[in-house]
Amino acid sequence: MSAIRRIDVTLKDHDYAVHVGSGARLLLPAVLRELGVGRVALVSALPQRELPDPGVPFTVVPVTDGEQHKTLASVETYCRAFVEAGLTRADAVVACGGGTTTDTVGLAAALYHRGIKVVHLPTTLLAQVDASVGGKTAVNLPEGKNLVGAYWQPSAVLCDTDFLDTLPRRELLSGYGEIARCAFIGAGDLRGLDLTDQIVASVTLKASVVARDERDRGPRHILNYGHTLGHAIERATDYAWRHGEAVAVGTVFAGLLAGRLGRIDRNRVAEHREIVESFGLPTWLPSGVPAATLVELMRRDKKGQDTDAGLTFVLDGPRGVELVPGVDERLATSVLADLPTGAAPASD
Ligand code: GLY
Repeated sequence: MSAIRRIDVTLKDHDYAVHVGSGARLLLPAVLRELGVGRVALVSALPQRELPDPGVPFTVVPVTDGEQHKTLASVETYCRAFVEAGLTRADAVVACGGGTTTDTVGLAAALYHRGIKVVHLPTTLLAQVDASVGGKTAVNLPEGKNLVGAYWQPSAVLCDTDFLDTLPRRELLSGYGEIARCAFIGAGDLRGLDLTDQIVASVTLKASVVARDERDRGPRHILNYGHTLGHAIERATDYAWRHGEAVAVGTVFAGLLAGRLGRIDRNRVAEHREIVESFGLPTWLPSGVPAATLVELMRRDKKGQDTDAGLTFVLDGPRGVELVPGVDERLATSVLADLPTGAAPASD
């Protein structure tokens, strides 16, 4: 096992560590021992042979990653499996998979017996740099993404970078979408760093933001940089575009929009495209999706409902990154028209 890096997430009434590095999954028995856990349900998108021995009695609950499984029905299935496995509140759930799995299993853990410990073993880059850290859990409804959820912080997160060695190129690309947007929300330019350092930097940034605003009442909004359009693209393409790919386009759009609003200069606008492109990410909109559809989906984005102020975006500006409500729909439509269109990145 090479050196494993540790980032602490320090909250008002709950602290936990995120461990990043090759072989981090092997920390699982020590983590569970420290938590005093009696038994676990290993809810896993990976086959059992890839899972570490938790060192306590366990039941494996096989699952499949994917937005289509991020449903209330899956939460019920997992909770029933926890009953079957005999889990009590003194036990724990281990979620092993991509962000859709850690989001859904996290919500099941929040609800089962009104809350049971969960340890995340994220297996995709996207889940390691974002989804598994910070305690947001949710499932989708046909009406929209992440509409039903809870804040439920994990007790530990083990980001084993060995999981990434065999990740399909497009899955890796999706994770880079979250890394790229970190440049505009306080992490600095992460280009040129090796992947482990990029993960550590992204998680460190996220830990500091979540420590300031666990419940998304203010500063945490910055983590949604590029996400308003990103979520709309995902929904409009029925998730044919991956989350990080869509966020990448949303990041370019956020730069253009901030420029048109006079919030940032031309160089800063250009930097958005340069950084996104440098990660090999798309900078175009999906072809065949009318701008009006994207605008309608963005209006329904949950940040907009918070403020009841029409289109709302997280944008860069003279005071730094902040939530900007009440953006004129005609302006948003015109900025969308400035972007080229094309197909989703090719799968391997
Ligand atoms: N992924 C955004 C957040 O955790 O707040």
